[in-house]
Amino acid sequence: MNAIITGATKGIGKAVLMALAREGWNVAATSRNQKDLDDLQTDFRKEFPDQDCLIDCVDFSLKLETKKYGDRITQRWSQIDLLVNNAGIFLPGAVHSEPEGVLEKTIDLNLYGPYHLTRSILPTMLENKKGHIINMCSIASLMSYANGGAYTISKFALLGFTKALREEMKPYGIKVTSIMPGATWSASWEGATFPADRLMPPEDVAEAVVSCTRMGSSSVVEEIVIRPQLGDL
Ligand SMILES: NC(=O)c1ccc[n+]([C@@H]2O[C@H](COP(=O)([O-])OP(=O)(O)OC[C@H]3O[C@@H](n4cnc5c(N)ncnc54)[C@H](OP(=O)(O)O)[C@@H]3O)[C@@H](O)[C@H]2O)c1
Repeated sequence: MNAIITGATKGIGKAVLMALAREGWNVAATSRNQKDLDDLQTDFRKEFPDQDCLIDCVDFSLKLETKKYGDRITQRWSQIDLLVNNAGIFLPGAVHSEPEGVLEKTIDLNLYGPYHLTRSILPTMLENKKGHIINMCSIASLMSYANGGAYTISKFALLGFTKALREEMKPYGIKVTSIMPGATWSASWEGATFPADRLMPPEDVAEAVVSCTRMGSSSVVEEIVIRPQLGDL
């Protein structure tokens, strides 16, 4: 079983990659930092010597680069069972005062990245009549909050994309799932002074992702909302 995970060197993406690996998956990891990818591959090979860990340096905010990666990976793997569109950015700000260009930058990665990569991978899944696309949305896909201007817009749009795709893929045996986590410890929260248990560990979000890959072909988890026990920050 082959899985592509975008933004797999840190945070939720890395936790998803490791959780899938423990279930026996081959993985294709991507991020923009070659050194992080090399380190990830070295660690992976020590722990899972019989499974593939492909690595590729890709900036998914760039359409051409994203499409080229889609072509490369579909040439490498004739079957792709799972695509986890995880890479995303959060640039704090408010719609009325954030600097010019924040929305474009955020949408380029958080919406257009998953859109173009999914379109590159789908022909292979359609040919195989199976596959699963999981989009890392957010509780910001469901509700707006202070200082989340462009991010909220991008995550509402990502959920919209996921819902449209889910409807389209029903007859083709391809599953589509949106995961909507609340605050989760990751690089984006570096320096935050909340108690450890105020945010979720990325491994719990990864567990939610892996759980929806375990179902048979006649069921699909459409949406998962997962929050810190104490609620939103
Ligand atoms: N953490 C939370 O509280 C939270 C809550 C809800 C939803 N989410 C969503 O979950 C996803 C992961 O979040 P996270 O907090 O785990 O992120 P993170 O720790 O900041 O990690 C992001 C990953 O994506 C990669 N990445 C960033 N920009 C990229 C680009 N342009 N092209 C390719 N890869 C890129 C990063 O590596 P490089 O920087 O080296 O490229 C890294 O591997 C995001 O979509 C985020 O919106 C997070």
